[in-house]
Amino acid sequence: MALPVPSVSAAPLPPGTRLPVLVIGTGYGGSVAALRLAQAGVDVHMVEMGMSWDTPGPDGRVFANTTRPDYRSFWLRTRTKQPLSNFLGFPLDKDIPRYTGVLDAEEFGGITVYQGRGVGGGSLVNGGMAVTPRRENFGAVLPTVNADEMYEVYYPRANAGLGVNQVDPDWWESAPCYQYARVGRKHARRSGFPFVFVPNVYDWDYMEREATGAVPKSALAGEVLYGNNHGKKTLRKTYLAEAEATGRVSVSALHKVTSVAPAPGGGYTVLIDELDTTGATTATKSVTADRVFFAAGSIGTSKLLTRLKATGALPGLNGEIGKGWGDNGNVMCGRANHLWDPTGKLQSSMPTAGIDNWEAGGAFAEVAPLPTGIETYASFYLSITKNPHRAEFTWNAAAGRVELNWQTAWKQPSIDMAKTIFDKINAKEGTIYRTDFFGFYKIWGDHLTYHPLGGAVLGRATDNYGRLHGHPGLYVIDGALIPGNTSVNPFVTITALAERNIETIIAADL
Ligand code: FDA
Repeated sequence: MALPVPSVSAAPLPPGTRLPVLVIGTGYGGSVAALRLAQAGVDVHMVEMGMSWDTPGPDGRVFANTTRPDYRSFWLRTRTKQPLSNFLGFPLDKDIPRYTGVLDAEEFGGITVYQGRGVGGGSLVNGGMAVTPRRENFGAVLPTVNADEMYEVYYPRANAGLGVNQVDPDWWESAPCYQYARVGRKHARRSGFPFVFVPNVYDWDYMEREATGAVPKSALAGEVLYGNNHGKKTLRKTYLAEAEATGRVSVSALHKVTSVAPAPGGGYTVLIDELDTTGATTATKSVTADRVFFAAGSIGTSKLLTRLKATGALPGLNGEIGKGWGDNGNVMCGRANHLWDPTGKLQSSMPTAGIDNWEAGGAFAEVAPLPTGIETYASFYLSITKNPHRAEFTWNAAAGRVELNWQTAWKQPSIDMAKTIFDKINAKEGTIYRTDFFGFYKIWGDHLTYHPLGGAVLGRATDNYGRLHGHPGLYVIDGALIPGNTSVNPFVTITALAERNIETIIAADL
């Protein structure tokens, strides 16, 4: 049976309200903060610029399918911007009505950053891969954090809170929907690479029932990028459901924070635009909060803090604001398999495994699905690489926007690291790269990231627990704290770090 989607209250937030705690954003960091504060007896109000995603559309479904994007799919675009933009020489993008859809493809000069928009943040659109970094890599991920505490207390707590679980290996071995992953394993092993199973937050019992036809299909209908209608344990079903059950957490969707500044009588004045589904502002309100948690994601938090520092709204912030941003080394590619090596026309949209060449070549490659519904004879990979480049956000006063100085050419080290895996596999298998996924004769998806990290780095822009320097009562608690790379998919680390930080903040500050 499908897990129920709890209704997260569409709480009113009248202008002039005084709040003990306001949380900006409802992704991983924000949801952890809200739950733990509420359990400690603190009332929390969350504001989220995206929609609440609890109402079905005219087709009876909340979310659109990956292969048929519609008005629900993209955040305020009139044309889709699909990560995989072309197929067999044909462009895949198409016109759609402008709407506050669930996936944002936010464009900066040198990179497009994909993010979830709505109550649940990135958990609404991501692949659910719930990976704890290898212990020996942790020192480079978060150098100022005690690794023993993380691996003994906070990673286990995060995994439990997120509902992380493993696919049944026996089922996986014979399921037609994981033929693509088994082909990925065969090729990895024949070239001598370690192939590792990774946990996920998808409900595997549900997926097994999808395969028998007993329940409506979601992962097996290719749902992922524009939301899953069933099966995936998003934050709506885990942290946020628990938070709402405390009776102390309320959420206002389609509310976008535009300013935070010290209030005359103490606390912070927060300005919020209320949006309609065209993205137009229907009201602007001012509330006051004793404490504010920035949980708007690496990009959202960095953009807000960079502007608020530059425009003098938060003059005490230090010179580290906006710095240390990285793309988690993301780069994509496809390989063309032989006709005797099909990857299957039915592909589960939830990845289960990766090729670990981090030590030798600086790359961890997720064996990713291509849920097109037809046989593509292609293997598709999202590599996470040890890319050394870090970018910085700055305020462009003339243009009235925050800019990011990432250069597309900075992906070259990532490509080189990914090639340590795929050049070898191609040589062994006698295969070639696909050149039709990202344009015409273009091998590498080097224009994008799914994993923005940094911009308000722990121990630099904040103290070692996320307290912003210069303004007591302001905290960062999301991916902005992590300095650019986690060596694997990031949301478990974001959640575990939030668990660690909020425990100290509750004990010491509240
Ligand atoms: P997150 O982005 O989750 O939440 C921030 C929230 O704040 C958003 O809901 C946003 O709308 C809101 N917000 C922003 N600005 C605001 C403002 N001014 N006012 C109000 N609200 C505001 N990771 C992983 O570990 N495994 C995986 O399989 C994948 N797969 C994947 C696929 C795709 C397509 C994407 C886009 C991403 C992934 N990820 C992933 C990445 C993962 O989803 C991401 O790292 C986390 O969601 C980041 O968590 P945060 O808490 O930092 O912010």
